[in-house]
Amino acid sequence: MARPEPRPSATAAVEARVHLHDLKPQLTDMREEVLAGLSAAPRRIAPKYFYDHRGSELFEAITRLPEYYPTRAEMSIFESRLDALCATLGPGNVLLEYGSGSSRKIRLMLEGLRPTAYLPVDISREHLLASARALAADYQWLEVHAICADYAAGFELPWRPERPSGEPVPITGFFPGSSIGNFERRAAGRFLTGVHHTLGTGGQLLIGVDRRKDKARLEAAYNDASGVTAAFNRNVLAHLNRTLDGDIDVEAFDHAAHYDEEAGRIEMHLVARRALTFTLAGETFAFARGETIHTENSYKYAPEEFRTLASGAGFETVEEFTDAESLFSVFVLRAL
Ligand code: AVI
Repeated sequence: MARPEPRPSATAAVEARVHLHDLKPQLTDMREEVLAGLSAAPRRIAPKYFYDHRGSELFEAITRLPEYYPTRAEMSIFESRLDALCATLGPGNVLLEYGSGSSRKIRLMLEGLRPTAYLPVDISREHLLASARALAADYQWLEVHAICADYAAGFELPWRPERPSGEPVPITGFFPGSSIGNFERRAAGRFLTGVHHTLGTGGQLLIGVDRRKDKARLEAAYNDASGVTAAFNRNVLAHLNRTLDGDIDVEAFDHAAHYDEEAGRIEMHLVARRALTFTLAGETFAFARGETIHTENSYKYAPEEFRTLASGAGFETVEEFTDAESLFSVFVLRAL
């Protein structure tokens, strides 16, 4: 049965609580970036290109895999420690989410914290507005200030909420999912410094971080038996074919993921099964059999290691929460 159109008054009520602040993020030139990466030695493709529509669906499927523990472990922390988390963060905050979605995690935090405003930040205007409207429709008390910006590049807050007394309302940043792990370690430090700048002294950051652990557990999480991570990895090539007019034989590449214990990172690669050539955006590339494209690093942090990183960016650790198996950490940081 077709879903009824929302009543105009209901739509207007939602729209009245959704405010868009478009900081017009600079979009990188995908053609230039991809061609340079494929010509480099070793060859690489930036992980942000995983997330076309199909890639986002495949990532969703990854989060439900039995082997991929991070999402479940983090969720178990949010669910079982929500009261303690909210007590640590305190009442009357503004919640700023790095990224936007209408996932169970942000819903739990909104319900637990009841922030005076919710500020999602996302580079995709369409995705940002769609999820902002969905949340404003479901939480009728919620004011949403959606910020279209590239959070990885840093940004100034376009709007700072104030109390009736004129005092600024403290801001709590939210960066779940161990997405910090997809930054190189130094870039992660620079990102946290940018977060400190955005939140300002007294601001807080609630951040999910995957821990270092044994190789077998980690490698299973990125080499699932049903092949979803392999499909996610290969899909980046289908995305490039479609967007940059390419003819890459996607099935001619194998998925490979391994844990480099010393570096503390999972590396994902695509490996040519045979010698091959393809064209992309008018350029031709020749691969030898076994030649690789590096598609992702996913860094893991020992608790002490992350505290040191956060401290270098001007944050003190207020509290660290973990799951029953100590696989994952959720930190509450305060900007000094
Ligand atoms: C989004 N990010 C935190 C995931 C990770 O675990 O690094 C992406 C991912 N890649 C393969 N599986 C999941």
